[in-house]
Amino acid sequence: MSRGASKDLGAIVMAAGLGKRMKSKLAKVLHPVAGRPMVLYAVDLAHRMAGECVAVVVGYQGKGVCAALEASGPRQSVMIVEQAQQLGTGHAVQQTRDVFKRLGKALAAYVILNGDTPLLRAETVEALLRLHRDERAVVTLLTATLDDSAGYGHVVRAQDGSVQKIVEDKDATATEKQSREINVGTYVVDGPFLFEALATVQPTNAQGEYYLTDLVGVAVERGMRVSTLTLADANEGMGINTREQLAQAERTIRRRICAQWMAEGVTLRDPATTVIDAGVAIGRDTVIHPDVTLEGCTAIGEDCIIRSRTRISDSRIGHRVVVQDQCVIREATLEDDTAVGPFAHLRPGAVLRRAAKVGNFVEMKKAELGEGSKANHLTYLGDATIGKGVNIGAGTITCNYDGRKKHETVIGNDVFVGSDVQFIAPVTVGTGAVIAAGTTVTSSVPQDTLAIARTQQVNHPGWAARRRAVLAGGVRKAVFGKGQAKSERDMRRAPRVTRTQTPSAKKKFPVSRTQKTEKRRRG
Ligand code: UD1
Ligand code: MG
Repeated sequence: MSRGASKDLGAIVMAAGLGKRMKSKLAKVLHPVAGRPMVLYAVDLAHRMAGECVAVVVGYQGKGVCAALEASGPRQSVMIVEQAQQLGTGHAVQQTRDVFKRLGKALAAYVILNGDTPLLRAETVEALLRLHRDERAVVTLLTATLDDSAGYGHVVRAQDGSVQKIVEDKDATATEKQSREINVGTYVVDGPFLFEALATVQPTNAQGEYYLTDLVGVAVERGMRVSTLTLADANEGMGINTREQLAQAERTIRRRICAQWMAEGVTLRDPATTVIDAGVAIGRDTVIHPDVTLEGCTAIGEDCIIRSRTRISDSRIGHRVVVQDQCVIREATLEDDTAVGPFAHLRPGAVLRRAAKVGNFVEMKKAELGEGSKANHLTYLGDATIGKGVNIGAGTITCNYDGRKKHETVIGNDVFVGSDVQFIAPVTVGTGAVIAAGTTVTSSVPQDTLAIARTQQVNHPGWAARRRAVLAGGVRKAVFGKGQAKSERDMRRAPRVTRTQTPSAKKKFPVSRTQKTEKRRRG
């Protein structure tokens, strides 16, 4: 049971609706706010109030809602109740009657929450419950005063200020619509009253739905007490019905999250452009530069520096890690003292062991770079395991894909890989081996071995100068072409040129006999 949860309290979260006004293929309550499906905010509150005595009403995309609940981590379990047809909020709550009955204990009251009100704070709901108890009310509801109350249920009060009823916007008269006090959709209702009174509610309204809000009218008719608590900050009660409200909620939650991490000792150089999801954790004295996005369940240690325009999702970052500008890091692990970027892409399964370094334009996927190892420039490491103290030269590529399957590259400790090397996987390189620059490694390399695989270099003295002369001559052709070069000395001399037609690319820079002999020799 949660700290402070009340034993004689039940909680109900309504999350079965489609959310027509979102115009989405996704059920409204599954839309994320700061990276969490919005229904989870209400479920968290429900747990806090009622411990394990929580029912969640699912219907539209119910499987998705259940999956979101399960994926939300090791929380207390909830009772899932299906509302097969979404006949209104009153009908939704009515569906939970049996699961509570089966618990076999009389509950003094129920906290009822809309699944689309993620800005609501626990302290507010606690205050609502206190008021309910103090005033011995049968229904206590949270209200807010809005400049624009369109779309909400309007609170209608009598001359003496007592609540008379709630009228939904679609059913309200012009006068009723003028009431700027709205129903937030958060209620405390007496246990014995709730299900009995709900059974009397009829769908006689513009939407033909069973309205939970009609309970207020029922209580008033019976002369029972209805209490209200009005939010000091109306924004907290915003129900998300549209994409615009979704964006507003996101902004508010983001501000709260940034404030929370600053209070915990994290420096955010520009909180207005910093996006931190609800599931992220950040250690003290870490500095986050402007325009950084930290998503999902990312955890960042202490004394890290995350520079601008970097996105980190679902990754574990140790202490004293430096991530330079413009990196994308997803489902990766960076141990203490590692450094990444700028412009690095660490894809799922990338692991940097302690003090390893990945530089600019390096991509890693399902690849481990051992302690103190470096891949500093222009490299792709996929399906690879690389040991400690390894240098991966610029432009190295693990060729892991043969068009059908992926294959592994395994590189031992203290290997030196020169620049522009390709590993045609599967391939293994033993401890301490050296791979010469420009080598294409097609078979495994034993330990302490030099592997070199590249064609032998041939120098043609004077060739470049003659080429320059040809280019300078424009459409002229060198006359020392085929059969004309008589000696090495001839070749070294600047070519004589004669006017002719545009030479073909092949003829532009004729190859000397020496070059041809060399070619033949090499086959
Ligand atoms: C509801 C209130 C309105 C209040 C507003 C606050 C009613 C009749 N109206 O209106 O007074 O001002 O919230 O945001 O309650 N749901 C179900 N099953 C259903 C219908 C809805 O589970 O059959 C769930 C939805 O998933 C949602 C919540 O109930 O989480 C509220 O439904 P919604 O359609 O958003 O109600 P509003 O029109 O906003
Ligand atoms: Mg709503």
